Amino acid sequence: MKRSFINQMITEALAFSEKMKFPLPPFFHWTVEDWRNVGSEYAEIRDCMLGWDVTDFGTGDFYHTGLVAATIRNGVAGQDAYRKPYCEKALFVKEGQVTPMHFHAVKMEDIINRGGADLVIELYLADDRDQLSANPVPVNVDGRRFSADAGTLLRLKPGESITLYPRQYHAFWAANGDALIGEVSTVNDDTADNHFFEVPQRFPEITEDEVKKYLLCNEYGRNLTI
Ligand SMILES: [Fe+2]
Repeated sequence: MKRSFINQMITEALAFSEKMKFPLPPFFHWTVEDWRNVGSEYAEIRDCMLGWDVTDFGTGDFYHTGLVAATIRNGVAGQDAYRKPYCEKALFVKEGQVTPMHFHAVKMEDIINRGGADLVIELYLADDRDQLSANPVPVNVDGRRFSADAGTLLRLKPGESITLYPRQYHAFWAANGDALIGEVSTVNDDTADNHFFEVPQRFPEITEDEVKKYLLCNEYGRNLTI
């Protein structure tokens, strides 16, 4: 993925967050120059991997398999340094753009349609070999609990949400336009907790074809000096 494309996708996400009246904290707007001028009082941002995450999951096909995510708050798995056992993200999902099938070994999350388009979510359970199970899936949508067939496509309208339990496979995409999706969960650990069904890698290789405008959540240097 080219740096110029990452710069462009973050600029578009910031514009969409304004359009949807879901403003993000100041550090999401900071340029590389801004990061050079802040001190260790912002170490939590680095330690908890807050900030921007732009990925095509290693496919080279961002518009069909990709995601821009903004981690607004998070803790650190297995630690209580920041006393946060929870995580919140904003996910910027373009029409037809799939976040590929995956489950989390530990994280439990609510995926919330904050507005824009409908969100379609495909559900399976993981079997004991981490494959897609044919068993029915227990579903919890805004306080309504029911059982759905494996592979069910649920359509969440703006305002609706689903609770996903550990080892519950899910893939999702926006159906009729771009969507702002919320994620509220237990602590997020992108280094160990994600089990993708079939994508090359969680974070893409980056080609530096222009100057970095924003930092990604895995690019903060020690003490945020870069
Ligand atoms: Fe997930």
